Amino acid sequence: MSSAFDSHEVKGHKLKNRLVVAPMTRISADKKGKPTELMGDYYERFAKGGWGMIISEGVYTDQQASQGYSHQPGISDAPQTDAWRTIVERVKQHNCQFILQLMHAGAQCQHNEYTDTAIAPSAVQPKGEPLGWYGDADGWPEVKAMDERDFDAVMQGFVGAVNRAREAGFDGVELHAANGYLLNEFLSDYFNRRNDQWSGDIGHRLTYVAMVVKAAKAAAKGNFIVGIRLSQITITDPDYQWPEGEEAMIKLVKALKEAGIDYIHTTDSDVNRKPFKGGSNKSLAEIVQEFSDIQLIVNGGIDENNYQHVASHYPSALLAVGKKGLANPDLPLRLKSGESVDELDFAMLQPSATLENEWQWRKQNDKEIELD
Ligand SMILES: Cc1cc2nc3c(=O)[nH]c(=O)nc-3n(C[C@H](O)[C@H](O)[C@H](O)COP(=O)(O)O)c2cc1C
Repeated sequence: MSSAFDSHEVKGHKLKNRLVVAPMTRISADKKGKPTELMGDYYERFAKGGWGMIISEGVYTDQQASQGYSHQPGISDAPQTDAWRTIVERVKQHNCQFILQLMHAGAQCQHNEYTDTAIAPSAVQPKGEPLGWYGDADGWPEVKAMDERDFDAVMQGFVGAVNRAREAGFDGVELHAANGYLLNEFLSDYFNRRNDQWSGDIGHRLTYVAMVVKAAKAAAKGNFIVGIRLSQITITDPDYQWPEGEEAMIKLVKALKEAGIDYIHTTDSDVNRKPFKGGSNKSLAEIVQEFSDIQLIVNGGIDENNYQHVASHYPSALLAVGKKGLANPDLPLRLKSGESVDELDFAMLQPSATLENEWQWRKQNDKEIELD
C-alpha cells in the first residue's frame, strides 16, 4: 500500500516523501520585490520540518503588468534573483526540493509598482472584492485586453523568469494557471471573451497556455522541472465551472502532455470534490490520473486525518498541503511521530498575511519556532 512517507522521484529529483508545501503568498518581500532574510527563515523552517518539496508563493515574472500584490516577491531582475539564491541554498541544505511558482496576476491585481493598468485576455474585472489579507485595495484596477505586443511581453516574462529561476538554483518552476490569475483567465469563458484564435471553445482557450508551457520547457535545461497548477475555481469566484464540463479538463491534460509538461498540480476546495458541469463523478485530479501518465500533485483540504487515504487514492501523486502546513511548518515530522497537529488560527494572518504578523502571533501564543 502506498504511503505519504514513501520516497518519490520527479524527473530525476529525489523527494524523501510525498508531502509538499503548497504555494502561499506572504507579501513579505521589500518594496522592489526582493526576498528578505525573514523569508529565508520562513522557507528554511519548512525544509527542516521534513517536507519532500516546497512550492514557493506566487512570484511575479516581469516589470510590466505581472505583479499582483504590494510586497510580493519577483524574479524579474538580478537583485531579486540573487536574494532568492540565498534562500535556495538554505532550503537545499536540508535535502528538500524547491520549486518557484511563476505568477502573472492578469486582471486579478491589487497592486503593481510598474503600471496602473492590468492586462487580461479581455477587459473584464474579477467578480467580488480584492482580498484584504493580501493588502488593502480600493476595487480592481482598469483592465486592458491584451494585444499582440502584450502576448509577446508576457511570454518573454515567463521565459526570462525560468532562466533566472534556474540561475538561482531552484529545482524547477510551477506555472500558475489556477485561482483566477492570467493563465487561468485564458481558460475561463468568464474572463476570456475575445473574438480571435485565443478564444472560443476550450481547444482555443488553452492555446496560449500551451504555448507558454512549450516556451518554458524550451528554456528549461537538463532535468529542470516545468509544472503547472490548474483549478476551475478562482479566489473570488468559488463556483466557476468551465462550460464544457469534464471534457475541458480532459482536453487540457492532453494538450499539456503534448506540450511536454512535467507535472500537473490540481487544486480545489476539496481534493475529491466533483466540480464539473454536467454531473461528472470525477475530481480534477482523477481526470489527470485516468487520462495521462503525467506526474500529479493534489491539493485541497489534506490534513492529519485524511492524508494516508489521499495518498492511496492517488498512489503516484504528491500531496500539497496549505493551511495545515502554515499552522505546522514541521507537519511531516509530526505526522510521522504521531505528535499533535495544530489548527490554523486565522488571526495569524491578520490584518494581512505577512510574515511579520505571523511572527508576532507566534510570540503572543507561545508558538515560536527556533531555527538554530
Ligand atoms: C495565505 C495563503 C496564500 C496563498 N497563496 C497562494 C499562491 O501564492 N499561489 C497559489 O497557487 N495558491 C495560493 N494559496 C492556495 C493554497 O496553495 C491552497 O491551494 C489552499 O490553501 C487550499 O489548500 P489547503 O486546504 O491545504 O489549505 C494560498 C493560500 C493561503 C492560505
